[in-house]
Amino acid sequence: MRRKLVIGNWKMNGSLAGNSVLLSGIVEGYAARNADCAVCVPAPYLAQCQTMLKGTPLSWGAQDVSAYAAGAYTGEVAASMLQDFGCRYVLCGHSERRAYHQESSELVAQKVLAALNAGLTPVVCVGETLEQREAGQSALVVCAQLQAVLDVLETPALERIVLAYEPVWAIGTGKTATPAIAQEIHALLRKQVAKRNADAAAQLQILYGGSMKPDNARDLLAQPDIDGGLIGGAALKAADFLGIVHAAE
Ligand code: 13P
Repeated sequence: MRRKLVIGNWKMNGSLAGNSVLLSGIVEGYAARNADCAVCVPAPYLAQCQTMLKGTPLSWGAQDVSAYAAGAYTGEVAASMLQDFGCRYVLCGHSERRAYHQESSELVAQKVLAALNAGLTPVVCVGETLEQREAGQSALVVCAQLQAVLDVLETPALERIVLAYEPVWAIGTGKTATPAIAQEIHALLRKQVAKRNADAAAQLQILYGGSMKPDNARDLLAQPDIDGGLIGGAALKAADFLGIVHAAE
């Protein structure tokens, strides 16, 4: 039985004072019963997470990582640095990184490797745009994005990643994928991993992301291949985020 996992992606939001209120609220309301829970915050706030969340059942992580280990890469953050600040997770290949920072699937795959080498759990994000969906290319696009990562991973590493399906047309738009649409893609992604290794596929957590809210979380999370959520907007208010976490629990 796969454990549910709910991750809040704060994107480029937050302040020391605001985070403090938000994190305290989440810690207070999170019972850690049947679901794991984490927040992926802007890098400058990782120290704050480490201070506030250490010893709580809540994990934390980053939203991006460099493909390189160290050196002359101005502005980049190395996986070892994330490890220094107690990160458990790091998002790799979020659609906003792919779109605004021209991250290719090959670069995303290198980032996944860098994360794994530092002992982090990469959350590999895939998803199609509206144009791609309307052109009937959803399956093709997400499978190619996943394949680039599978191509660089040894089979044992497959058990150390998390996948997230985030249709770009559902992110921040209020247009959630229907449970059936999401389930179809999740099942497809799991099947693709199963071609490499059935056990790894069976235990792989595949999260859904894109306008997930407390009122639609239950139906999405009830699907057999939806193992949790990657939450944007609703992760910025403790009550909303906890509503989703409780649905998962
Ligand atoms: P929203 O929940 O705001 O649609 O964002 C989803 C997302 O991009 C999480 O990574």
